[in-house]
Amino acid sequence: MRAVQLAPSILTADFGRLADEVRAAEEGGADLLHLDVMDGHFVPNITFGHAVVEELRKVTSLRFDIHLMVSKPEEHVAFYTEAADVVNFHVEATDHINRTLDLIRRGGAEAGVCLNPGTPLAAIEESLPTVDQVMVMTINPGWGGQQLIPSQLDKVTRLRAQLDKGGHRARIEIDGGVKVENAAACAAAGADVLVCGSSVYNEQASVAENLMSLRAALAKTS
Ligand code: DX5
Ligand code: ZN
Repeated sequence: MRAVQLAPSILTADFGRLADEVRAAEEGGADLLHLDVMDGHFVPNITFGHAVVEELRKVTSLRFDIHLMVSKPEEHVAFYTEAADVVNFHVEATDHINRTLDLIRRGGAEAGVCLNPGTPLAAIEESLPTVDQVMVMTINPGWGGQQLIPSQLDKVTRLRAQLDKGGHRARIEIDGGVKVENAAACAAAGADVLVCGSSVYNEQASVAENLMSLRAALAKTS
């Protein structure tokens, strides 16, 4: 099985101690850091914007995986490309998928497209040859701590087959409800990157312990 990367999402971290929470992910062996930007329009919730992302860039050398849950992402991506390694946007939020991908690349970052649970794979078919990453949302975006929607793993399996058949190099990222109990199923469906929010930032154990548990769950099946 492919090596699966873990991307802690700081959405359920302590926002009063964000720098420490980010360092804990790095020290705990995260592969990259997932940052959820919400605008209160594309999704009801509001989190943080590029100013916070830029400050966090100074405290870690982890790769930044930015998840833009904003309307008209083409008007926002330029604010993130310098601090980010990957900028992901929702195809439901724009009429200009291709232009937005170009803007991200011109800014020097990798470009990813995200699909809500109700959005079919057909929405990104034309982009598959050029995107660096496809993010399959396994929850409805907006909040951490929700349950993974099992039918979305079938979408991941179909996407994996489509990418392999077409010889496309895009990674598949799963976002939403990833836990110790389902991490292996996510990997088996064909994911390369697992976003883990409340399964890493929670009161039950430390960030490092939680990352270790997720790795152990993945190792059992590899
Ligand atoms: C929600 C965000 C997710 C969130 C996942 O819209 O995109 O990245 O942090 O949190 P969990 O892992 O708790 O579902
Ligand atoms: Zn996310």
